[in-house]
Amino acid sequence: MSKSAYKFIPFVSSGLSAAEMAARARRLRFEWAMRRSQRMFSDRAVPRSVIEDLIMAASSAPSGANKQPWTFCVVGEAKLKTQIREAAEKEEYENYHGRMPGEWLKDLQQFGTDWQKPFLEIAPWLIIIFKRVYEIDENDPAKKNNNYYVTESVGIATGMFLNAVHQAGLVSLTHTPSPMNFLGAVLGRPENERPFLLIPVGYPADDAVVPDLRRKGPDEVIAWYE
Ligand SMILES: Cc1cc2nc3c(=O)[nH]c(=O)nc-3n(C[C@H](O)[C@H](O)[C@H](O)COP(=O)(O)O)c2cc1C
Repeated sequence: MSKSAYKFIPFVSSGLSAAEMAARARRLRFEWAMRRSQRMFSDRAVPRSVIEDLIMAASSAPSGANKQPWTFCVVGEAKLKTQIREAAEKEEYENYHGRMPGEWLKDLQQFGTDWQKPFLEIAPWLIIIFKRVYEIDENDPAKKNNNYYVTESVGIATGMFLNAVHQAGLVSLTHTPSPMNFLGAVLGRPENERPFLLIPVGYPADDAVVPDLRRKGPDEVIAWYE
């Protein structure tokens, strides 16, 4: 690898012992498994600084050619939340009344969901992640600069965000009231951004429950080649 033309800096290694590493890995396995999608939120406030920290944790994600092709829009304003709820429910009404095929509706029964999304007004923050499919050139607005592996990059950043929220003791929902073009319109986003996911974040309601789901085990998700 030729390093001459570009600056490189020393990599800071974790320095964990093998035993610490194994203990950590085992702990992560069980701590991360506690994350659940939550649809029953409390209106209890969460400080803005916490949301910023969690987003910046997520924004350390790897990305194609380090383009970091994401924008996290953070909505706390009541009127905007109402607008988003109304537009999302309009799409979800259509989804639940004809747009989703019967098999899909059957798969969703176990979650007890319907077209109504009250959590979009109750949760203190709505995080709308946009993927930046290209960048508008600063000097030539007509020119589109490429981003690479945009969906993969934004998916990884989103996963890291969901886990950061969980690690901070808060809850989230990965929500897709599709088609989600209304989010770009409501938030006045530029033409190079496409809505990726809508993620309410906050505390769970006191009486919150979650569906009793089964997660696949190691034999079902890992194929070893040793
Ligand atoms: C891409 C994606 C889209 C999702 N869309 C919705 C959604 O629109 N509404 C909803 O209630 N849950 C949605 N979910 C949440 C899933 O139902 C949930 O992650 C899954 O049932 C597993 O449950 P868990 O997250 O508690 O482990 C979505 C999840 C993903 C990854």
